[in-house]
Amino acid sequence: MAANKSLLVLAGDGIGPEVMGQVRRVVDWMDRRRAVSFDLAEDLVGGAALDAHGVPLSDATLERAKTADAVLLGAVGGPKWDDLPFEKKPERGLLALRKEMELYANLRPAICFEALVEASTLKPEVVSGLDIMIVRELTGGTYFGEPRGIFDLPNGERKGINTQVYTTHEIRRVAAVAFELARKRNNRVCSSEKANVMESGVLWREEVTKLHAETYSDVELSHMYADNCGMQLVRAPKQFDVIVTDNLFGDMLSDVAAMLTGSLGMLPSASLGDPDETGQRQALYEPVHGSAPDIAGENKANPVAALLSFAMCLRYSFDLAEDADLIEEAVKAVLAAGVRTGDILAPGTRAVSTEGMGDALIAELD
Ligand code: NAI
Ligand code: MG
Repeated sequence: MAANKSLLVLAGDGIGPEVMGQVRRVVDWMDRRRAVSFDLAEDLVGGAALDAHGVPLSDATLERAKTADAVLLGAVGGPKWDDLPFEKKPERGLLALRKEMELYANLRPAICFEALVEASTLKPEVVSGLDIMIVRELTGGTYFGEPRGIFDLPNGERKGINTQVYTTHEIRRVAAVAFELARKRNNRVCSSEKANVMESGVLWREEVTKLHAETYSDVELSHMYADNCGMQLVRAPKQFDVIVTDNLFGDMLSDVAAMLTGSLGMLPSASLGDPDETGQRQALYEPVHGSAPDIAGENKANPVAALLSFAMCLRYSFDLAEDADLIEEAVKAVLAAGVRTGDILAPGTRAVSTEGMGDALIAELD
Protein backbone atom coordinates (compact mmCIF):
# COMPACT_ATOMS: atom_id res chain seq x y z
CA MET A 1 0.00 0.00 0.00
CA ALA A 2 1.49 3.36 -0.97
CA ALA A 3 -1.28 5.84 -0.25
CA ASN A 4 -0.11 9.41 0.27
CA LYS A 5 -0.52 10.74 3.80
CA SER A 6 -0.76 14.48 4.19
CA LEU A 7 1.34 15.95 6.98
CA LEU A 8 1.35 19.59 8.04
CA VAL A 9 4.56 20.60 9.80
CA LEU A 10 4.27 23.59 12.15
CA ALA A 11 7.82 23.97 13.46
CA GLY A 12 7.11 27.11 15.52
CA ASP A 13 9.75 28.90 17.59
CA GLY A 14 13.04 28.43 19.42
CA ILE A 15 14.28 24.85 19.14
CA GLY A 16 11.06 23.92 17.29
CA PRO A 17 12.56 24.36 13.80
CA GLU A 18 15.80 22.64 14.88
CA VAL A 19 14.15 19.46 16.16
CA MET A 20 11.62 19.40 13.31
CA GLY A 21 14.51 19.59 10.85
CA GLN A 22 15.65 16.19 12.12
CA VAL A 23 12.09 14.83 11.96
CA ARG A 24 11.93 15.90 8.31
CA ARG A 25 15.05 13.89 7.59
CA VAL A 26 13.36 10.79 8.99
CA VAL A 27 10.13 11.53 7.07
CA ASP A 28 12.24 11.73 3.90
CA TRP A 29 13.96 8.47 4.84
CA MET A 30 10.56 6.78 5.27
CA ASP A 31 9.47 8.17 1.91
CA ARG A 32 12.53 6.70 0.20
CA ARG A 33 12.84 3.41 2.02
CA ARG A 34 9.38 2.30 3.14
CA ALA A 35 6.10 1.58 1.38
CA VAL A 36 4.59 4.87 2.41
CA SER A 37 4.53 8.37 0.94
CA PHE A 38 3.92 11.68 2.59
CA ASP A 39 2.65 14.95 1.19
CA LEU A 40 4.53 17.33 3.43
CA ALA A 41 3.46 20.95 3.82
CA GLU A 42 4.92 23.57 6.15
CA ASP A 43 3.33 26.57 7.78
CA LEU A 44 3.84 29.03 10.63
CA VAL A 45 2.52 28.94 14.19
CA GLY A 46 3.25 30.82 17.41
CA GLY A 47 5.76 33.67 17.42
CA ALA A 48 6.80 32.95 13.84
CA ALA A 49 3.18 33.43 12.71
CA LEU A 50 2.80 36.54 14.91
CA ASP A 51 5.82 38.13 13.25
CA ALA A 52 4.59 37.27 9.75
CA HIS A 53 0.81 37.72 10.05
CA GLY A 54 0.16 39.48 13.37
CA VAL A 55 -1.68 36.44 14.78
CA PRO A 56 -0.24 33.27 16.36
CA LEU A 57 -2.53 31.04 14.23
CA SER A 58 -4.04 32.33 10.98
CA ASP A 59 -7.40 31.08 9.71
CA ALA A 60 -5.69 29.66 6.64
CA THR A 61 -3.22 27.67 8.77
CA LEU A 62 -6.04 26.38 10.95
CA GLU A 63 -7.91 25.22 7.85
CA ARG A 64 -4.82 23.40 6.56
CA ALA A 65 -4.37 21.76 9.96
CA LYS A 66 -7.97 20.53 9.96
CA THR A 67 -7.75 19.05 6.49
CA ALA A 68 -4.30 17.42 6.88
CA ASP A 69 -4.22 13.76 7.95
CA ALA A 70 -1.98 14.80 10.83
CA VAL A 71 -0.16 17.84 12.18
CA LEU A 72 3.41 17.71 13.51
CA LEU A 73 4.22 20.64 15.78
CA GLY A 74 7.59 21.74 17.20
CA ALA A 75 7.20 24.27 20.00
CA VAL A 76 5.94 27.83 20.43
CA GLY A 77 6.87 30.85 22.52
CA GLY A 78 9.95 32.68 23.68
CA PRO A 79 11.26 35.81 25.42
CA LYS A 80 10.77 37.94 22.30
CA TRP A 81 7.00 37.80 22.84
CA ASP A 82 6.97 37.77 26.67
CA ASP A 83 5.60 41.31 27.01
CA LEU A 84 2.50 40.69 24.90
CA PRO A 85 -0.84 40.36 26.70
CA PHE A 86 -1.94 36.77 27.37
CA GLU A 87 -4.51 36.69 24.53
CA LYS A 88 -1.85 37.66 21.98
CA LYS A 89 0.98 35.38 23.01
CA PRO A 90 2.42 32.66 20.72
CA GLU A 91 1.09 30.00 23.12
CA ARG A 92 -2.45 31.07 22.16
CA GLY A 93 -1.79 29.65 18.70
CA LEU A 94 -1.30 26.18 20.13
CA LEU A 95 -4.30 26.46 22.46
CA ALA A 96 -6.47 27.63 19.55
CA LEU A 97 -5.29 24.71 17.44
CA ARG A 98 -6.17 22.19 20.16
CA LYS A 99 -9.54 23.81 20.75
CA GLU A 100 -10.58 24.38 17.13
CA MET A 101 -9.58 20.86 16.12
CA GLU A 102 -11.40 19.57 19.24
CA LEU A 103 -8.47 17.46 20.34
CA TYR A 104 -10.05 16.00 23.45
CA ALA A 105 -7.70 13.05 24.07
CA ASN A 106 -4.12 13.81 25.05
CA LEU A 107 -1.83 10.78 24.91
CA ARG A 108 1.31 10.91 27.02
CA PRO A 109 3.42 7.74 26.99
CA ALA A 110 5.99 7.08 29.71
CA ILE A 111 8.58 4.69 28.34
CA CYS A 112 11.82 3.87 30.11
CA PHE A 113 14.63 3.34 27.65
CA GLU A 114 17.01 0.72 29.03
CA ALA A 115 20.05 2.91 28.34
CA LEU A 116 18.55 5.71 30.44
CA VAL A 117 17.46 3.65 33.45
CA GLU A 118 20.24 5.23 35.48
CA ALA A 119 18.83 8.71 34.74
CA SER A 120 15.62 7.96 36.69
CA THR A 121 15.35 9.05 40.29
CA LEU A 122 13.66 5.72 41.04
CA LYS A 123 15.31 2.32 41.55
CA PRO A 124 16.21 0.54 38.29
CA GLU A 125 13.95 -2.43 39.07
CA VAL A 126 10.96 -0.10 39.48
CA VAL A 127 11.33 1.62 36.08
CA SER A 128 13.24 -0.86 33.91
CA GLY A 129 10.96 -1.97 31.06
CA LEU A 130 8.31 0.61 31.91
CA ASP A 131 5.86 1.34 29.07
CA ILE A 132 2.61 3.00 30.09
CA MET A 133 0.23 5.42 28.40
CA ILE A 134 -1.72 8.18 30.10
CA VAL A 135 -4.83 9.40 28.29
CA ARG A 136 -5.78 12.83 29.63
CA GLU A 137 -9.10 14.47 28.73
CA LEU A 138 -8.04 17.81 27.23
CA THR A 139 -11.02 20.01 26.33
CA GLY A 140 -13.34 19.74 29.34
CA GLY A 141 -13.31 19.66 33.14
CA THR A 142 -12.03 22.22 35.61
CA TYR A 143 -10.01 24.27 33.12
CA PHE A 144 -13.13 25.13 31.09
CA GLY A 145 -16.15 24.60 33.38
CA GLU A 146 -18.59 27.41 34.22
CA PRO A 147 -19.08 29.22 36.52
CA ARG A 148 -15.54 30.47 36.92
CA GLY A 149 -13.98 33.70 38.06
CA ILE A 150 -12.98 35.80 41.06
CA PHE A 151 -15.93 37.43 42.83
CA ASP A 152 -16.32 40.05 45.57
CA LEU A 153 -18.24 39.02 48.66
CA PRO A 154 -20.42 41.46 50.70
CA ASN A 155 -18.10 41.08 53.70
CA GLY A 156 -15.16 42.43 51.71
CA GLU A 157 -13.58 39.03 51.08
CA ARG A 158 -13.21 37.58 47.59
CA LYS A 159 -13.81 34.06 46.30
CA GLY A 160 -12.27 32.24 43.36
CA ILE A 161 -14.34 29.64 41.52
CA ASN A 162 -13.58 26.90 39.04
CA THR A 163 -16.06 24.18 38.25
CA GLN A 164 -15.47 20.58 37.25
CA VAL A 165 -18.04 19.75 34.55
CA TYR A 166 -18.24 16.59 32.46
CA THR A 167 -21.06 15.35 30.24
CA THR A 168 -21.63 11.69 29.41
CA HIS A 169 -20.55 12.38 25.81
CA GLU A 170 -17.25 13.92 26.90
CA ILE A 171 -16.49 11.00 29.21
CA ARG A 172 -17.43 8.29 26.71
CA ARG A 173 -15.43 9.66 23.79
CA VAL A 174 -12.17 9.91 25.72
CA ALA A 175 -12.73 6.52 27.35
CA ALA A 176 -13.28 5.02 23.88
CA VAL A 177 -9.85 6.31 22.83
CA ALA A 178 -8.30 4.65 25.90
CA PHE A 179 -10.02 1.31 25.27
CA GLU A 180 -8.99 1.31 21.61
CA LEU A 181 -5.38 2.08 22.55
CA ALA A 182 -5.40 -0.73 25.11
CA ARG A 183 -6.46 -3.18 22.40
CA LYS A 184 -3.29 -2.29 20.49
CA ARG A 185 -1.18 -2.62 23.65
CA ASN A 186 -1.59 -4.90 26.69
CA ASN A 187 -5.39 -4.73 26.82
CA ARG A 188 -5.73 -3.08 30.23
CA VAL A 189 -7.33 0.25 31.16
CA CYS A 190 -7.26 1.86 34.58
CA SER A 191 -9.78 4.71 34.90
CA SER A 192 -8.91 7.30 37.50
CA GLU A 193 -11.10 9.92 39.24
CA LYS A 194 -12.23 10.75 42.74
CA ALA A 195 -15.71 9.24 42.78
CA ASN A 196 -15.44 9.14 46.58
CA VAL A 197 -15.72 12.94 46.84
CA MET A 198 -16.85 14.32 43.43
CA GLU A 199 -20.14 13.82 41.58
CA SER A 200 -18.37 14.36 38.25
CA GLY A 201 -16.17 11.44 39.31
CA VAL A 202 -19.20 9.28 40.08
CA LEU A 203 -20.56 10.00 36.59
CA TRP A 204 -17.11 9.34 35.09
CA ARG A 205 -16.93 5.91 36.73
CA GLU A 206 -20.50 5.00 35.74
CA GLU A 207 -20.06 5.98 32.10
CA VAL A 208 -16.68 4.27 31.71
CA THR A 209 -18.17 1.12 33.25
CA LYS A 210 -21.20 1.25 30.90
CA LEU A 211 -19.13 1.84 27.77
CA HIS A 212 -16.87 -1.02 28.79
CA ALA A 213 -19.81 -3.42 29.16
CA GLU A 214 -21.39 -2.28 25.88
CA THR A 215 -18.38 -2.22 23.56
CA TYR A 216 -15.06 -3.06 25.17
CA SER A 217 -15.66 -5.99 27.53
CA ASP A 218 -12.63 -7.76 25.98
CA VAL A 219 -10.40 -5.13 27.64
CA GLU A 220 -9.57 -5.50 31.34
CA LEU A 221 -10.94 -2.46 33.22
CA SER A 222 -10.08 -1.27 36.72
CA HIS A 223 -10.85 1.94 38.63
CA MET A 224 -8.54 3.83 40.96
CA TYR A 225 -8.92 7.05 42.94
CA ALA A 226 -6.59 9.68 41.48
CA ASP A 227 -4.64 10.27 44.70
CA ASN A 228 -3.92 6.57 45.00
CA CYS A 229 -3.01 6.52 41.30
CA GLY A 230 -0.33 9.14 41.98
CA MET A 231 1.08 6.97 44.77
CA GLN A 232 0.98 3.82 42.67
CA LEU A 233 2.77 5.57 39.79
CA VAL A 234 5.85 6.13 41.94
CA ARG A 235 5.51 2.88 43.96
CA ALA A 236 4.92 0.33 41.20
CA PRO A 237 4.32 1.99 37.81
CA LYS A 238 4.60 -1.24 35.82
CA GLN A 239 1.18 -2.37 37.13
CA PHE A 240 -0.39 0.00 34.56
CA ASP A 241 -0.95 -0.25 30.81
CA VAL A 242 -3.35 2.58 29.84
CA ILE A 243 -4.59 5.12 32.39
CA VAL A 244 -7.56 7.32 31.42
CA THR A 245 -8.38 10.37 33.51
CA ASP A 246 -9.80 13.88 33.43
CA ASN A 247 -8.08 17.12 32.46
CA LEU A 248 -6.98 18.24 35.93
CA PHE A 249 -5.83 14.90 37.36
CA GLY A 250 -4.37 14.04 33.96
CA ASP A 251 -2.27 17.19 33.97
CA MET A 252 -0.59 16.06 37.18
CA LEU A 253 -0.52 12.30 36.67
CA SER A 254 1.00 12.62 33.18
CA ASP A 255 3.78 14.86 34.50
CA VAL A 256 4.47 12.42 37.34
CA ALA A 257 4.58 9.49 34.92
CA ALA A 258 6.82 11.40 32.51
CA MET A 259 9.42 12.12 35.15
CA LEU A 260 9.72 8.45 36.08
CA THR A 261 11.75 8.13 32.91
CA GLY A 262 14.04 11.15 32.65
CA SER A 263 14.46 14.14 30.34
CA LEU A 264 11.96 16.48 28.73
CA GLY A 265 13.96 16.00 25.54
CA MET A 266 12.69 12.40 25.32
CA LEU A 267 8.94 12.88 25.83
CA PRO A 268 6.46 12.72 22.94
CA SER A 269 2.71 13.35 22.93
CA ALA A 270 -0.35 13.07 20.74
CA SER A 271 -3.67 14.89 20.88
CA LEU A 272 -6.60 13.23 19.12
CA GLY A 273 -10.10 14.33 18.16
CA ASP A 274 -13.09 12.69 16.52
CA PRO A 275 -12.76 10.26 13.63
CA ASP A 276 -14.24 11.25 10.23
CA GLU A 277 -16.25 8.90 7.94
CA THR A 278 -13.08 7.01 7.04
CA GLY A 279 -12.05 6.55 10.67
CA GLN A 280 -9.21 9.11 10.41
CA ARG A 281 -9.04 11.16 13.61
CA GLN A 282 -8.10 14.83 13.85
CA ALA A 283 -4.58 14.60 15.24
CA LEU A 284 -1.70 16.75 16.47
CA TYR A 285 1.68 15.30 17.47
CA GLU A 286 4.20 17.33 19.45
CA PRO A 287 7.04 16.96 21.93
CA VAL A 288 6.10 17.75 25.54
CA HIS A 289 8.92 20.29 25.85
CA GLY A 290 8.71 23.99 24.95
CA SER A 291 10.87 26.21 22.77
CA ALA A 292 13.87 26.08 25.17
CA PRO A 293 15.08 29.67 24.57
CA ASP A 294 18.17 28.98 26.72
CA ILE A 295 19.60 26.65 24.04
CA ALA A 296 17.70 27.79 20.91
CA GLY A 297 19.84 28.30 17.81
CA GLU A 298 22.79 26.41 19.30
CA ASN A 299 22.23 23.03 17.64
CA LYS A 300 22.07 21.45 21.11
CA ALA A 301 18.43 20.40 21.46
CA ASN A 302 17.49 16.74 21.68
CA PRO A 303 15.32 15.91 18.65
CA VAL A 304 14.18 12.54 20.07
CA ALA A 305 10.94 13.83 21.68
CA ALA A 306 9.86 15.29 18.34
CA LEU A 307 10.90 12.14 16.49
CA LEU A 308 9.04 9.85 18.91
CA SER A 309 6.00 12.10 18.36
CA PHE A 310 6.28 11.32 14.65
CA ALA A 311 6.48 7.61 15.53
CA MET A 312 3.22 8.03 17.47
CA CYS A 313 1.75 9.66 14.35
CA LEU A 314 2.70 6.62 12.27
CA ARG A 315 1.21 4.28 14.86
CA TYR A 316 -2.01 6.09 15.78
CA SER A 317 -2.98 8.09 12.69
CA PHE A 318 -1.72 5.75 9.98
CA ASP A 319 -1.69 2.30 11.57
CA LEU A 320 1.94 1.91 10.49
CA ALA A 321 3.07 0.04 13.59
CA GLU A 322 6.09 -1.53 11.88
CA ASP A 323 7.42 1.84 10.76
CA ALA A 324 6.82 3.29 14.22
CA ASP A 325 8.70 0.32 15.71
CA LEU A 326 11.63 1.02 13.36
CA ILE A 327 11.98 4.54 14.70
CA GLU A 328 11.63 3.50 18.32
CA GLU A 329 14.18 0.69 17.84
CA ALA A 330 16.59 3.14 16.20
CA VAL A 331 16.25 5.49 19.20
CA LYS A 332 16.96 2.59 21.58
CA ALA A 333 19.99 1.45 19.61
CA VAL A 334 21.47 4.92 19.33
CA LEU A 335 21.06 5.53 23.07
CA ALA A 336 22.52 2.12 23.85
CA ALA A 337 25.55 3.01 21.70
CA GLY A 338 26.09 6.02 23.98
CA VAL A 339 25.03 8.74 21.55
CA ARG A 340 23.62 11.50 23.76
CA THR A 341 22.60 15.11 23.50
CA GLY A 342 23.47 17.36 26.45
CA ASP A 343 20.19 16.85 28.32
CA ILE A 344 20.72 13.07 28.69
CA LEU A 345 24.49 13.01 28.88
CA ALA A 346 26.04 10.04 30.68
CA PRO A 347 29.09 10.61 32.89
CA GLY A 348 32.31 10.55 30.90
CA THR A 349 30.73 10.95 27.45
CA ARG A 350 30.64 13.90 25.04
CA ALA A 351 27.41 15.47 23.85
CA VAL A 352 26.43 15.30 20.18
CA SER A 353 24.58 18.14 18.46
CA THR A 354 20.95 18.09 17.33
CA GLU A 355 22.19 17.24 13.86
CA GLY A 356 24.65 14.70 15.22
CA MET A 357 21.76 12.88 16.89
CA GLY A 358 19.89 13.02 13.56
CA ASP A 359 22.95 11.59 11.75
CA ALA A 360 23.18 8.71 14.23
CA LEU A 361 19.48 7.93 13.91
CA ILE A 362 19.56 7.95 10.11
CA ALA A 363 22.67 5.74 10.11
CA GLU A 364 20.92 3.33 12.46
CA LEU A 365 17.77 3.29 10.29
CA ASP A 366 19.92 2.54 7.23
P1 NAI B 1 11.06 24.29 27.96
O1 NAI B 1 10.52 22.91 27.81
O2 NAI B 1 11.19 25.08 26.73
O3 NAI B 1 12.52 24.19 28.64
C1 NAI B 1 12.73 23.71 29.97
C2 NAI B 1 14.19 23.25 30.12
O4 NAI B 1 14.37 21.99 29.44
C3 NAI B 1 15.19 24.22 29.50
O5 NAI B 1 16.35 24.25 30.27
C4 NAI B 1 15.48 23.61 28.14
O6 NAI B 1 16.77 23.92 27.64
C5 NAI B 1 15.34 22.10 28.42
N1 NAI B 1 14.85 21.41 27.22
C6 NAI B 1 13.57 21.43 26.74
N2 NAI B 1 13.49 20.72 25.62
C7 NAI B 1 14.72 20.23 25.37
C8 NAI B 1 15.27 19.42 24.33
N3 NAI B 1 14.53 18.96 23.31
N4 NAI B 1 16.58 19.12 24.38
C9 NAI B 1 17.36 19.57 25.40
N5 NAI B 1 16.90 20.33 26.40
C10 NAI B 1 15.59 20.67 26.38
O7 NAI B 1 10.14 25.05 29.01
P2 NAI B 1 10.19 26.58 29.51
O8 NAI B 1 11.59 27.02 29.64
O9 NAI B 1 9.30 26.61 30.69
O10 NAI B 1 9.47 27.43 28.39
C11 NAI B 1 10.14 28.11 27.33
C12 NAI B 1 9.14 28.65 26.35
O11 NAI B 1 8.43 27.56 25.72
C13 NAI B 1 8.05 29.53 26.97
O12 NAI B 1 7.75 30.56 26.07
C14 NAI B 1 6.87 28.60 27.12
O13 NAI B 1 5.65 29.27 27.14
C15 NAI B 1 7.02 27.74 25.89
N6 NAI B 1 6.42 26.40 26.03
C16 NAI B 1 5.83 25.88 24.92
C17 NAI B 1 5.32 24.61 24.93
C18 NAI B 1 4.77 24.06 23.67
O14 NAI B 1 5.00 24.62 22.61
N7 NAI B 1 4.08 22.95 23.73
C19 NAI B 1 5.32 23.79 26.16
C20 NAI B 1 6.04 24.40 27.25
C21 NAI B 1 6.54 25.67 27.17
MG1 MG C 1 1.44 20.02 32.99
